[in-house]
Amino acid sequence: MQIVLPVIGTVAAWRDHVRRLAAEGVAPEAVRWTVGEGARDLLAADLPRNEGRKLSITREALAEIETALCHSDPERFNRAHALVLRLNDGLGWGDRTDPAMRKVLEQAKAVRRDIHKMHAFVRFREVPTDGPRRAFTAWFEPDHRIVEAGTPFFATRFGDMDWVIATPEVTARFDGTLRFEETIDTARPPADATEDLWRTYYASIFNPARVMVKAMQSEMPKKYWKNLPEADLIPDLVRNADARVREMQAREAEEAPARRLAAARAMAVPDKPAPEAGSLDALRADAAGCTRCPLYAPATQTVFGEGPRDAKIVIVGEQPGDEEDLAGRPFVGPAGQVFDEEAEAAGLDRRQVYVTNAVKHFKFSPRGKRRLHQRPDMAEVRACNVWLQSELGLIRPKLIVAMGATALQSLTGKGQDILKRRGGFEEAGDGTPLLVTVHPSYLLRLPDPELAKVERAKFRTDLAKAAEYL
Ligand code: URA
Repeated sequence: MQIVLPVIGTVAAWRDHVRRLAAEGVAPEAVRWTVGEGARDLLAADLPRNEGRKLSITREALAEIETALCHSDPERFNRAHALVLRLNDGLGWGDRTDPAMRKVLEQAKAVRRDIHKMHAFVRFREVPTDGPRRAFTAWFEPDHRIVEAGTPFFATRFGDMDWVIATPEVTARFDGTLRFEETIDTARPPADATEDLWRTYYASIFNPARVMVKAMQSEMPKKYWKNLPEADLIPDLVRNADARVREMQAREAEEAPARRLAAARAMAVPDKPAPEAGSLDALRADAAGCTRCPLYAPATQTVFGEGPRDAKIVIVGEQPGDEEDLAGRPFVGPAGQVFDEEAEAAGLDRRQVYVTNAVKHFKFSPRGKRRLHQRPDMAEVRACNVWLQSELGLIRPKLIVAMGATALQSLTGKGQDILKRRGGFEEAGDGTPLLVTVHPSYLLRLPDPELAKVERAKFRTDLAKAAEYL
């Protein structure tokens, strides 16, 4: 039997066919699936058949299988068909020793990654229109058949404009309603002023002090560069990075951060989908290019957490300070020194814990040559929470130590009354035990030396409670 699935609505059509085939008892190996071309259903009389059945599989399994069906592998329909029947007959979901299951899980992951790339790299160009709304087009070349799954994101994000995202196979069109059609014209959209704007924007936010070509290429593989108007700037920008760092350092303290911050605020993408948390290294590389909130623009670099992958304790601070921003490592400045001293006195070996922050970029206001710490606001804490949760999700510590109100806010949703809550155990959102304590910079700010001594001793006592989890 040959079944021709439509180019639009492929997955839904496959699901309907599989239900029917199962009811009729047609075996998976009797079916040849194609998309969009070939003969229509030819139902031969002597097809291999099993007993007919009514399918019932879990929602989770179906969602994952349907994601995997967006993969470009021609075998995916047969594999998924057979797997659905086995799941229906009692096979447990998620067993990676099963080759078909493993393949489906891997392909679903590849599809999600492709969707993630689409969300990050689609660039719209404005096109003239007579209508009341501004209109934009974009051209994108995905690896897999992700247009239907990947474009509802843009409908939410750009609901107040008309747009078209064309890909070689399928085009998504939005004018208040999202529709899909087969792509007829495969020419890319013309360049226009918006393209220049993108270039100017990209050159202005490009911070040479944080050029990490490898990380950049893994987040923005070369194959996407050709469709990015800013991409032809990259080689030059990278080549001139050294000179630009020096030049930037010379004028850094003045007006640049505020201006870049304003530009970045307009371009920040707070609701990008959660990063794929394969490993801490992958997460770190992903976070290096984070633009979820505007703080990335004036900061030197993302300061990601550090420590063992299997740490029993995760220590969470507020955000990197001036020294951390330059060094690219958490808690290496004055607050870090207080932490190190008190941790050591409390028997908490820093090499055994994972140290990170609620916000991964330094927020500051320039004063002459100095950069004064500014507290991150709620939106910034919220935008950055995705990284902290991904770190915690990979490490799965036995205990989290929240140092200060910002960490507490990010981890529990409530940052008030820190002095009342300090020393107490609470729970993070996922139920992990969480010990509350003050931030070490609070100890540095206390003007009264006696009080500072008392507070330092309490801080040490808190860290000693944490040390028991080692
Ligand atoms: N303060 C923090 O909260 N984190 C750092 O990394 C440094 C200072």
